[in-house]
Amino acid sequence: MTKDKKRVAEIDMGTFKYDPRTNVKSGEDDKAGMVFDDGFRKEYIENYMEESVVYQNVFDEDKIKTLCEFMFRSTGFWRVSKTGNLFFSGNFKQLVKDYIKPWTKDVLQDTSWDWDKVWTVGGNFFHTPHQYGIHTDMPAPDDFWDSDLITYKSMLIPLYINPFKTKCKMIYYDQRVVDSGCTLDYGPFTSTTHYNSYTDYSQIKNVHTLDGPITIDREKTRMSDDDFLRYELDKAPSPIDRYHGLSVEHSYDWTPGDLHVFDTAQIHSSTLGANPKFKTKAGLRITFMAKRDYANYP
Ligand SMILES: [Fe+2]
Repeated sequence: MTKDKKRVAEIDMGTFKYDPRTNVKSGEDDKAGMVFDDGFRKEYIENYMEESVVYQNVFDEDKIKTLCEFMFRSTGFWRVSKTGNLFFSGNFKQLVKDYIKPWTKDVLQDTSWDWDKVWTVGGNFFHTPHQYGIHTDMPAPDDFWDSDLITYKSMLIPLYINPFKTKCKMIYYDQRVVDSGCTLDYGPFTSTTHYNSYTDYSQIKNVHTLDGPITIDREKTRMSDDDFLRYELDKAPSPIDRYHGLSVEHSYDWTPGDLHVFDTAQIHSSTLGANPKFKTKAGLRITFMAKRDYANYP
């Protein structure tokens, strides 16, 4: 794969935690990449996997405005992908400390969320004219995270959608891929990312639901026409064939100001909506990382 193609991919789903051009290194950081071994998987499955949840109206208009100002003035890096996505990243520790942590205190206080677990964060602000295909948000196979880190949780905060009256969906599936990031691309097209792309989902290793390990089986788990319509996957725009093997955990409206909390390993996708389809939408995605517990999960 060419370097250029890689760059596009990084932009499209990128974590932006570390930009090699800046040569930022500090302390004991090794930037060697996360290690998706048995200990990682066991620790993740036993400690961090939970149902996805959306808290409504967590961020009012003023807060969204503040987040957008941060996006334009305080992030430091921006990139545009060949497909027309615009991303901002950088300074996310400050963003979390100053805004995300205090503003989510009330909704998260009686949940399992544990800020003491969070060691570092990554993510991006994104503007996209596209619907996102089926994927996980786990680090890319060649990402630069430190080797002693483990994915804790992910947050997604819809910031706006245009036209405003469009309703599109975020769909979270029961299946998690406890491994580096991947895309599920059944059908006659090729993925533009450098993430592991699967057209045969039965080849995906380390798939788990909250009930235990599974293999994704297109024949056994068929996406029913009812579910396809009920969850508005018909507005995605892939055909139903792409979804066989997956089952929907939740389908949520893209509503600015809501807070989505989900497993970083959880398979998810979005839709374009209808009447009208959205032209562009923006959101803030944050991935939280914890330190590996080698004593209990060697
Ligand atoms: Fe995602």
